[in-house]
Amino acid sequence: MTANKKLLLLPGDGIGPEVMGEVRRVVAWLGTHRAVRFDVDERPVGGAAIDRDGVPVTDETLADAQAADAVLLGAVGGPKWENLDFEIRPEAGLLRLRKDLGLFANLRPAIVFPALADASTLKREVVEGLDIMIVRELTGGVYFGEPRGITEIGPGERQGVNTQVYTTTEIRRIAAAAFDLARKRQGRVCSVEKANVMESGRLWREEVIRLHGEAYGDVDLSHMYADNCAMQLVRNPKQFDVIVTDNLFGDMLSDEAAMLTGSLGMLPSASLGARQESGRLPALYEPVHGSAPDIAGQGIANPIAALMSFGMMLRYSFDLAAEADLLEGAVHAVLDAGIRTGDIMSPGGTQVSTQAMGEAIVAEMEKAAT
Ligand code: IPM
Ligand code: MG
Repeated sequence: MTANKKLLLLPGDGIGPEVMGEVRRVVAWLGTHRAVRFDVDERPVGGAAIDRDGVPVTDETLADAQAADAVLLGAVGGPKWENLDFEIRPEAGLLRLRKDLGLFANLRPAIVFPALADASTLKREVVEGLDIMIVRELTGGVYFGEPRGITEIGPGERQGVNTQVYTTTEIRRIAAAAFDLARKRQGRVCSVEKANVMESGRLWREEVIRLHGEAYGDVDLSHMYADNCAMQLVRNPKQFDVIVTDNLFGDMLSDEAAMLTGSLGMLPSASLGARQESGRLPALYEPVHGSAPDIAGQGIANPIAALMSFGMMLRYSFDLAAEADLLEGAVHAVLDAGIRTGDIMSPGGTQVSTQAMGEAIVAEMEKAAT
């Protein structure tokens, strides 16, 4: 008998706990109907952890995350914790998890569901059929570079410093992740930086070209400056297959790409590390949307991004492609039936709560499985 998979849930703040409740519903369904059993553990992170433990993530939670087969995070942050120092803000907990688990590759797919092509603020013909993957470097760059800080440099004069820094190794491993993914897709990678003004960007481009020449000649490689990429994403997003970029540009471009699909409430993500000798793949999955404090606690958040993140986990961490297909198919079916949370509501649709959306998706899974 194979051991149950160890799953650590970190619901976090705002709508995090609400959308995570719907993931639990699917986990329970899989346990009884598909004999896919998880040992589920749950811990606070972000603001919830600050309130309980005084830090956004405890060493204990980090150890649990290291020991789990996969981690699923809801969202962190909110106005309540906005004025804290950087080191103890909710976001610091997420950054520490990424860094300590070595999750350097952040995969953010932006897919337009046929039923939602009209929910985009862009014209239907621009986004219909869109399927791009942003591969964001997640443990380097200006988010982590030293020196950093705010210092007094004269009377009434302060200076804020952050450092953008990338090494050959960091660039090569994220580029390899992008090339490998492209091989399973349309075989095209667009590498994005600001090589025209930044040395780190110039090194990025040189190293990507070198790795491509050494090992990935079969993949079609192009390069784009980040500002141009931001523009091209709204002008003609379907020109892209895989976009690989650094931590900061990836943060911005992935929000932009997510919105092409109609709602941030739809987009999942996977953050992966290097596969260890034991075969273990460090992995954390999370919806791209944040904690959405404005709608938290009302039971109206869209749980689809969290559910699709769990779907990515089934696929990437557990090789459960059939179960992932079942879940994703159910999401499609529910959307085709016009069932909508408020963020993706359209004329003629039926607006439902977070919970009712989760129930409808599980009902579709049930239908498809019998
Ligand atoms: C994201 C978020 C995070 C980031 C924040 C919450 C630290 O915006 O995952 O995109 O900037 O990486
Ligand atoms: Mg972001």
